Amino acid sequence: MPSQQHILLNAFNMNCVGHISHGLWTHPRDQSHRYNTLPYWTDLARTLERGLFDGLFLADIVGTYDVYQRNVDVTLRESIQLPVNDPTLLVSAMAAVTQHLGFGVTVNLSYEQPYLLARRFSTLDHLTQGRIGWNIVTGYLDSAARAMGLSEQLAHDARYDKADEFLDVLYQLWEGSWEDGAVLRDKAARVFADPRKVHRVQHQGTHYQVDGYHLSEPSPQRTPVLFQAGSSGRGQRFAARHAECVFISPPSKEAARAAVQALREQLVVAGRRPDDVKVFMGVAVVPGRTQAEAQEKYADYKQYASREAGLAHFSASTGIDYGQYDLDEPIAYGNSNAIESATKAAQERGWTRRSLLELFELGGRYPAIVGDASQVADTLQGWVRDTGIDGFNLSRTVVPESYEDFVDIVTPELQNRGLFKTAYEEGSLRHKVLGQGPTLPTRHAAASFRRAPAQDI
Ligand SMILES: Cc1cc2nc3c(=O)[nH]c(=O)nc-3n(C[C@H](O)[C@H](O)[C@H](O)COP(=O)(O)O)c2cc1C
Repeated sequence: MPSQQHILLNAFNMNCVGHISHGLWTHPRDQSHRYNTLPYWTDLARTLERGLFDGLFLADIVGTYDVYQRNVDVTLRESIQLPVNDPTLLVSAMAAVTQHLGFGVTVNLSYEQPYLLARRFSTLDHLTQGRIGWNIVTGYLDSAARAMGLSEQLAHDARYDKADEFLDVLYQLWEGSWEDGAVLRDKAARVFADPRKVHRVQHQGTHYQVDGYHLSEPSPQRTPVLFQAGSSGRGQRFAARHAECVFISPPSKEAARAAVQALREQLVVAGRRPDDVKVFMGVAVVPGRTQAEAQEKYADYKQYASREAGLAHFSASTGIDYGQYDLDEPIAYGNSNAIESATKAAQERGWTRRSLLELFELGGRYPAIVGDASQVADTLQGWVRDTGIDGFNLSRTVVPESYEDFVDIVTPELQNRGLFKTAYEEGSLRHKVLGQGPTLPTRHAAASFRRAPAQDI
C-alpha cells in the first residue's frame, strides 16, 4: 500500500509541439518539435522513471482550435496542439525502455466504437504488463464533430450520458467476456481457451449495439486505470461512478478544496470510498539551484511565451472568441457547450481579454511555481495540505529540461521531507497509484459486469 503522505506525480505531455505553455517551443533549448521521433519519447520515459514519476499522462485532442478569430491561423502559426499525433501509438516504445512508469493516455470516446477501443487498451495493458491508464474524454470541440461528419457536438450533459453507456459496454468486454481461468494454454490437451468460460457480450442500448466476444484475453488489470477530468456537476457524477484518478486545474486553493470535497462526497453517494479517487492538479514548475537562478530562468522563458496563443487555446476551451472583444470589454459569458468548468471560472472572475493575457505569463493558464527546491517543495506541500489533492500533473515548459530540472532539483528535496517515494513498488499501475488491484475493487461499477465462475464439470 503506498504511503498516504506520498505525493503522486505524473508528467503531463502531448504528442504535439505546443501543449499548454504556448510559445515555448521557440526557446532555443526546447526540443518539442522532435515530438514525431521515437528517441524524444524514449528519452523522456527514461528521465521520468529515473525520477520515480508514477506516470506519464498524455493529453490528446480531436479537432482543431478554430474558435479564436473564427479560423485556425494562430493555431497553426503557434502550433497550438496542431499538428497532433496519436498518443496511444507512443506507449509501446516507452514501455520497452522502462519497467515501472505508468501511462495515462487520453482517447476521446465520442468518435470511437467500444468494441475496438476495448481491444486497443487490452493490448496496451498486455504489452505494458499492467501499466496502462485511460483518460476518458468526450471532447469539447464542434470542429471535431464537423470533421467526423456531424454538424455539431452533442450537448454537454448528453456527452456524459453517452459516455456512461460506452463504459458499461467496455466493462462487459473487459470484465465479463473472459472469465479468470478461461485461458489454459494447454499444448498437450490442445486447448488454448476453455469455451465454457468465454462469453458473448450482447448489448442493445441507446447509442451502442454490440454482439460479440472480447477480442483480447484478460490483461493484468483488465480495465485500465480510469482517469477523468470533468469538474462540472455532471462531470463529477461521471467521475464518481467511473474514475480512479481525476485531473483538476483549479483557479484557486478554495476552488480546489471545494472540487475535492464535492468529488469525495459524490463517491460515497456512488457506493465507493472517499479515497477511491486520487486527485491530481496541473502545475508548471520552474525550479532553480538557487532562488536567483529560478527567477532568471522564469524571466528567460517568459520572453518566448505567447500570450495570444494561450488566449486562442482558452477560446477553444470555453467556446468564446476572445478575439472579437476589446481588451477591457466585458465578455458575454453564457452557457458553454465546451468545458463548462473553465467557462464558469472565467465568468466568476469576470475575466476580460486583458486580464487573461496578463494571466498567461507562460502562455497558458497553469499557475507557475518558481523557486529553489525548498520553495517549490513548500508550495507543493501547501497545496496538498490545504486542498486535499493527492498529487500533481507536471506540465511542461521547455522540453526536456523542465522534467530534468524537476527530477534533479525538486525530487531530492521532496524525498528528504518524506513526501515522495525513494523506490518504486512492484505491481500494476493500479497498485502503485491506488494501492489496489491489479483489477478494480468489487465496489466499482465495473465489477457488476463480472460473471460468476463456470462450474467445472
Ligand atoms: C487538467 C485537464 C486536462 C484535460 N485534458 C483533456 C484532453 O487531453 N483532451 C480533451 O479532449 N479534453 C481534456 N480535458 C477536458 C475534459 O476532458 C472535459 O471535457 C472538460 O473538463 C469538461 O468537463 P466539464 O464540463 O465537466 O468541466 C481536460 C480537462 C482538464 C481539467
